[in-house]
Amino acid sequence: MQIQENISLKPYNTFNIDAKAKYFSSFATVDELIELLSNSRLPTPDSRLILGGGSNILFTKDFDGLVLKNELKGIEIMKEDDKFYYVKAAAGEVWHEFVLHCIDHNYAGVENLSLIPGSVGASPIQNIGAYGVEIKDVLESVEAYHINDKTIQTFSLDECAFGYRESVFKNKYKGQFVVLNVTYKLRKLSQLNTSYGAINEELEKMHAKDLSIKNISQAIINIRSSKLPDPKVVGNAGSFFKNPVVSKFRWHVIWEQNKNISAYQIDDMNYKIAAAWLIEQCGWKGYRKNDAGCNPLQALVLVNYGNATGKEIYDLSEEIIISVKNKFSIELEREVNIV
Ligand code: FAD
Ligand code: EPU
Repeated sequence: MQIQENISLKPYNTFNIDAKAKYFSSFATVDELIELLSNSRLPTPDSRLILGGGSNILFTKDFDGLVLKNELKGIEIMKEDDKFYYVKAAAGEVWHEFVLHCIDHNYAGVENLSLIPGSVGASPIQNIGAYGVEIKDVLESVEAYHINDKTIQTFSLDECAFGYRESVFKNKYKGQFVVLNVTYKLRKLSQLNTSYGAINEELEKMHAKDLSIKNISQAIINIRSSKLPDPKVVGNAGSFFKNPVVSKFRWHVIWEQNKNISAYQIDDMNYKIAAAWLIEQCGWKGYRKNDAGCNPLQALVLVNYGNATGKEIYDLSEEIIISVKNKFSIELEREVNIV
């Protein structure tokens, strides 16, 4: 455990933004984390950033504090009953590797979340979700270290207060806790979820002989690879904005003029509209200014073609927000964490 100074964060964020951290260190044990957090060289208590895979973060400037890269490792079964395995994974495990481990061991429930970049520790922060499943559907508890109180606390599913890309860690307790490990409740007998249309289509294309968690995982890997840019090739952080929830009235106003609107009804009063559709309608899909752009295959993904700065990506996101607001009276909210 060594504190480095003025190091480039480019290898540590999937947008490949070349911002610098004043101090940088990784931690592989809880004791190392505690020692780093109590280091008196730190300028202010606020200037700490816990980093997993850096796949949901945009650095718009240099970070004038200590970046703590989570390297806590380990996966173990805590207990099992007739229906479930309770599997605890340390926060620094790579999420997709954890999913593959579950598939290999026949623990069902996370297969629809295959190929999401990042760490186990970040999975509850924004309640990661894809293809009809969210972390809240499989989460048992979260163990986290309270930075100021210096205590380890356990959060039950209810206490995490999960919503669409939301949790207590992203809101009420933002920046206060370091997630140490997550326990997932995974089924012994799989309950397969192929409700997201494209999954069945892909399974057919694959000529999959049986409906297994392994085949569903592969179908999702295929779908995702066909439309989301690989951060190793083109910098990005997945969906840059959330899909907005609007009133039935607002949806109807848009629908009357655009019968092809991509949206679905959530309840009697509300609709969720595909932000990608709104952005595409405003003409941004495939747009590029210098090295900052809007992905030509999926308009919700902003990209760094090489040497864009975080500020250029941020400015582009601001222009998109303004144009969507002007055209549809809908204010897009960023999903990516801006630093
Ligand atoms: P980071 O980017 O390192 O951190 C994100 C935030 O969480 C930061 O605020 C950080 O401080 C905080 N944080 C991280 N670890 C901890 C910890 N241990 N304790 C406390 N705070 C912590 N997301 C989805 O939900 N669904 C998708 O389908 C999806 N697809 C994606 C596709 C691509 C190509 C990319 C690049 C991203 C995608 N994402 C998706 C976003 C991203 O993968 C997830 O948000 C992921 O959980 C981020 O993990 P991370 O470890 O990289 O987090
Ligand atoms: N669409 C367009 N233009 C585009 C792309 C899509 O109009 O360029 C429309 C299409 O009608 C399509 C609809 O938008 O049917 C939805 O697109 P997609 O299925 O690609 O999903 P999304 O709503 O854009 C969300 C999540 C993704 C997640 C996928 C699959 C959010 C913000 N994003 O994307 O999560 O992987 O569904 O479940 O909810 C992430 O959070 O980073 C992320 C990638």
